[in-house]
Amino acid sequence: MSYAAATPGKVHGEHRWDFVFAALYDRLMRRGEERSMGRRRSELVANAKGHTLEIGAGTGANIRHYPDDLEELILAEPFEPMRRRLERKLEESGRSARTLDASAEAIPLEGESVDTVVSTLVLCTVDFPELALAEVARVLRPDGQLLFIEHVRSRSPRVARWQDRLETPWRRFGAGCRCNRDTTASIVAAGFATEHAAEHWKGVPPIVAPLVIGRAVKV
Ligand SMILES: C[S@@+](CC[C@H](N)C(=O)[O-])C[C@H]1O[C@@H](n2cnc3c(N)ncnc32)[C@H](O)[C@@H]1O
Repeated sequence: MSYAAATPGKVHGEHRWDFVFAALYDRLMRRGEERSMGRRRSELVANAKGHTLEIGAGTGANIRHYPDDLEELILAEPFEPMRRRLERKLEESGRSARTLDASAEAIPLEGESVDTVVSTLVLCTVDFPELALAEVARVLRPDGQLLFIEHVRSRSPRVARWQDRLETPWRRFGAGCRCNRDTTASIVAAGFATEHAAEHWKGVPPIVAPLVIGRAVKV
């Protein structure tokens, strides 16, 4: 799928709350970041190399964790209120990187032009995860890697039932976030092999606590 062929609408900006969510995002995340996510970001993103693209970069929580010796860092974020905060954080960091107004389902980059794609807490929110993963596969070089941290459907049937029950209110609260997606299965279905660990995100509601953290390569 070429990026020109994929032009799905953006889920964000439809509701006033989405703008408030962007403004509050760093504050809402603070507890979960301090209790475990910050360390996990730093361990994951340290593995980025070469030409690196981050999809759904949000307010730029990963910026400070990237290695200094990347050949290029591109931070894509389709929602303008998030991207504004991303650009501010990038400027404050003093790093050289460029931002892109692009959704993961339509990445405006050449095929096989990227060594690393980073996705943290994004595949829960994109409207079309299959399209997004097809785009990630398209832009990655054959030996490229997808580094990911995603919250996913629980393996506990009891928690998964709550994720299903609360999917709609959580999606409204979380500006499009789906708490019950089996994202690991989607990554594999998109033609990747994964090495990942299942972990628990401390400091957040149980329906978004099950995490997968890892690396995927095209097979
Ligand atoms: C939960 S936030 C995660 C932000 C950031 N990656 C982080 O780790 O803090 C989800 C992000 O995905 C973005 N997003 C929503 N729909 C998207 C899409 N179709 N393609 C790419 N990003 C999208 C949102 O604007 C938001 O910035």
